[in-house]
Amino acid sequence: MQRVSTGIFGLNEVLGGGYPAERTILVAGPAGAGKSTFALAFLVDGVLREDEPGIYVSFDETLDNVRADALSFGWNLAELESEGRLAMVDGFSRRAGVQSNEKYQCKLEIDEVITMLISLIDNIGAERVVIDSITALALGLDDEVLQRKEILKLSAVMSSLTCTTLMVSEMKEDAEISRFGVEEFMAQGVIVVKYVFAKSGRRTLQVRKMRGVKHNMTELPFIMSSKGLQVFPEETLYDL
Ligand SMILES: Nc1ncnc2c1ncn2[C@@H]1O[C@H](COP(=O)(O)OP(=O)(O)OP(=O)(O)O)[C@@H](O)[C@H]1O
Ligand SMILES: [Mg+2]
Repeated sequence: MQRVSTGIFGLNEVLGGGYPAERTILVAGPAGAGKSTFALAFLVDGVLREDEPGIYVSFDETLDNVRADALSFGWNLAELESEGRLAMVDGFSRRAGVQSNEKYQCKLEIDEVITMLISLIDNIGAERVVIDSITALALGLDDEVLQRKEILKLSAVMSSLTCTTLMVSEMKEDAEISRFGVEEFMAQGVIVVKYVFAKSGRRTLQVRKMRGVKHNMTELPFIMSSKGLQVFPEETLYDL
């Protein structure tokens, strides 16, 4: 099985080499847990270290906010975009009903997202894709059956493409991972990021599932800093 580097220090080791190539991984967690940063680290790593172009689709934030937030981790996304190695898709503006000057825009609509991804993968040779978040995408549909059907369709299409995809998914604090009852099952892997321990406010990361891979199952300490993101496979969690 081919592997793709995760961009997170320590995580390749936890997974025995990285994500399985060309699969879809769900990144779930509550608000502010670090999901978007985790997903961006994967794209930036691909562009800077592996020469693998990437696509980021944002439904929850304007791209200018994503770019500004990324700078606090030392990632200059605009530069990667201007070099044609990263494509940022604005799925937020039309959803919010505001004007946008972004080069790539799409509606909150799964067929449109799929068409956009297929053409961009071809255009820039993308090998890594992030959809942030599928929660926003599914919540745009008002019927539960349709939400499940559309998530399944998106997963099936992504699996048929030759890129590795991270799908970000919002989780209510201490609730089920699957908000729509299907996303945890259809993904080939599930990673949960959260913060625990009210006193110390530490973040944790847990690989809940990774089909075809023997991996550490425990909740591991996870830190985000301007030097990068890191998990500590050998450390135990203590509430300091
Ligand atoms: N330079 C930095 N170093 C360490 N932590 C940072 C830095 N910049 C931001 N953060 C932390 O990252 C958090 C945001 O992370 P991120 O946006 O990835 O979370 P998220 O899970 O995607 O949130 P949401 O559910 O709102 O989309 C901030 O709340 C802050 O705690
Ligand atoms: Mg986010």
